[in-house]
Amino acid sequence: MRFKGKVVLVTGGTTGIGRETAILLARQGARVAITGRREAQGAETVALIEKADGEAIFIKANAENESDCRRMVDETISRFGRLDAAFNNAGIEGDFAPVEQQEAENFHRVMNINVLGVLLSMKYQIPAIRRSGGGAIVNNASVAGTIGMPTGSVYIASKHAVIGLTKSAALEVARENIRINSVSPGAIQTDMWDRFTGSDATKQEYMIGLHPVGRAGKPSEIADAVAFLCSDEATFITGTNLQVDGGFTAQ
Ligand SMILES: NC(=O)c1ccc[n+]([C@@H]2O[C@H](COP(=O)([O-])OP(=O)(O)OC[C@H]3O[C@@H](n4cnc5c(N)ncnc54)[C@H](O)[C@@H]3O)[C@@H](O)[C@H]2O)c1
Repeated sequence: MRFKGKVVLVTGGTTGIGRETAILLARQGARVAITGRREAQGAETVALIEKADGEAIFIKANAENESDCRRMVDETISRFGRLDAAFNNAGIEGDFAPVEQQEAENFHRVMNINVLGVLLSMKYQIPAIRRSGGGAIVNNASVAGTIGMPTGSVYIASKHAVIGLTKSAALEVARENIRINSVSPGAIQTDMWDRFTGSDATKQEYMIGLHPVGRAGKPSEIADAVAFLCSDEATFITGTNLQVDGGFTAQ
């Protein structure tokens, strides 16, 4: 119960890594606000948490919309009274294509959700966490934040930007007991993995082959890393990017 008494906000908490992290944090005592655009999946996540005797609310919010980012923090505070930590996880992969075939529309869509969304989320989370006496923010980057990948330029650029945003924000608040870090998952079996590889066994084997451990990751393995970075076991860790990738980027 290392998060007993703590309140945590998870963006994109309706599915995948976000949902698994919200469930883990609630199981460890946190009251959790999850955001997303899809109410049915949001209600499902809340039900899963309540079934495990946890406490959670769903706030319908679009990560790329500034008033939604402000409201998600306001609603969390009005329901739970404080904010101690946040996991800015909402993200999309966008369209993969060579640079020569990229469209500005795809660039704006991916950047607005993956980068502007993280910026605006932190903009409203930082003062709320400050008012609670300090805490932690974790942003979800990717192995795509430190390597290049043919056809992945836009997603890759967005995740490089998440790591840069994380470091700069961390430096701004380092003296205020607010720690800001990112996690960089390798391939994790979620809806994004399904969309990316489809049911194409060759694509899945190729992706798995990029990971020295010989398998894709599970959402719970990212949730464990996020919980660690949010916890008091990580009080001297800020401005870092934690690769959780089965050795992918060690190569
Ligand atoms: N699955 C992987 O292999 C992998 C690897 C590295 C990084 N990631 C990152 O992990 C994060 C979560 O992805 P996932 O794998 O769980 O897939 P997912 O598609 O299940 O989760 C993405 C979540 O973000 C939400 N979301 C998307 N756009 C949003 C918006 N505008 N406003 C609010 N919510 C929005 C979705 O509804 C969903 O809940 C993403 O940022 C992704 O880039 C995933």
